[in-house]
Amino acid sequence: MHKPVILTGVRSNAEPTLGNYLGAILPLVRLQATHAGEYQINAFLPDLHSITTPTDYKQLYQSTINNLRIYAAAGLKLDDPNTNVYRQSYIPAHSELTWILDCFIYYGELARMTQFKEKSAKQTSVSVSLLNYPALMAADILLYDASYVPVGEDQRQHLELVRDIAIRMNNQFGELFVVPESWENQMKFNGNGAGVRIRSLKHPSQKMSKSIADPAGTILLSDDPKEAKAKVLAATTDSLGSINLNYETQPGVSNLLQIIASIQNKPLNEVVSEWKGESSYAKLKNAAADLVEATLSEFQAKLLQFSSEDALDTLSKHEEAVRGIAEAKLNKVQSSVGIRP
Ligand code: TYM
Repeated sequence: MHKPVILTGVRSNAEPTLGNYLGAILPLVRLQATHAGEYQINAFLPDLHSITTPTDYKQLYQSTINNLRIYAAAGLKLDDPNTNVYRQSYIPAHSELTWILDCFIYYGELARMTQFKEKSAKQTSVSVSLLNYPALMAADILLYDASYVPVGEDQRQHLELVRDIAIRMNNQFGELFVVPESWENQMKFNGNGAGVRIRSLKHPSQKMSKSIADPAGTILLSDDPKEAKAKVLAATTDSLGSINLNYETQPGVSNLLQIIASIQNKPLNEVVSEWKGESSYAKLKNAAADLVEATLSEFQAKLLQFSSEDALDTLSKHEEAVRGIAEAKLNKVQSSVGIRP
């Protein structure tokens, strides 16, 4: 029996934010710590996804390698025998499987994705890759038969589409793919309630995003910890004067509660009860700001301990090993659709 697979990735299109850290990187590190040995963990670097929107192409190669340093600094153990780290474009089966999946995904399914609609609305010329983004994600996940995909709430719709594709192809061709667990089961697995969505500190009705210019609302992992602290202290709240979790009426306060819960690794409802009855927003901001400052300081110190050379070395070794796993699955799919014997 193969071990169940946990798989996730962070793009290198721009510098990662506190949202990426709390929504995807830290949950993976915690899953590795609690489940080592029982699961296979794939932490991969989706460099092909990084070029779906314009980026700094000269920087991209280094940024991708740097994202492995970020995983390591966040606490991911790279010498764990059950953990694989690799760059998406170094395993050609990702691109090849995407094309085959494309032949079984409907245009309407991709066109109705919220992320596609939001991103394409901001551009005058919309690349086909932006539309096809979830198909490449499906290949990333289905190639390795991943059951658990720790991602932020913004990726929920994509993950649900991946499940639909896997079920559709299994119905047509027999058991080709492991169907990833439902969103509810994913959340139970990593104990994240409804899914983590860290908001902009300035505009808390929007998500904190590395691709939107919002310096006062966004904390980058490279921010000076003191400046990051100041951004949290200056976070937009409201005038209700009581601390509750309600993203409609109190998105800023709710965001601070979520930041505290994620950093302290506590269920959100536990943190909400701890703050019940408290009316001082200054106290809440201070608590969140101190945690963010300490998290960044510790993270940045660890980042210095792992060089780009070490990261590249680690990636190359893993890529060699992973290529065979991916190719075996690709061959099986190619045979099923009649392009291999
Ligand atoms: P990316 O780089 O845009 O985001 C990386 C991860 O960070 C999460 N995230 C957030 N979580 C909470 N609050 C936020 N404000 C926030 N912003 C981003 C994202 O949900 C994501 O988990 N499509 C993926 C990359 C990818 C992938 C995959 C992931 C490509 N193929 C296969 C899993 C499995 C993405 O959103 O990258």
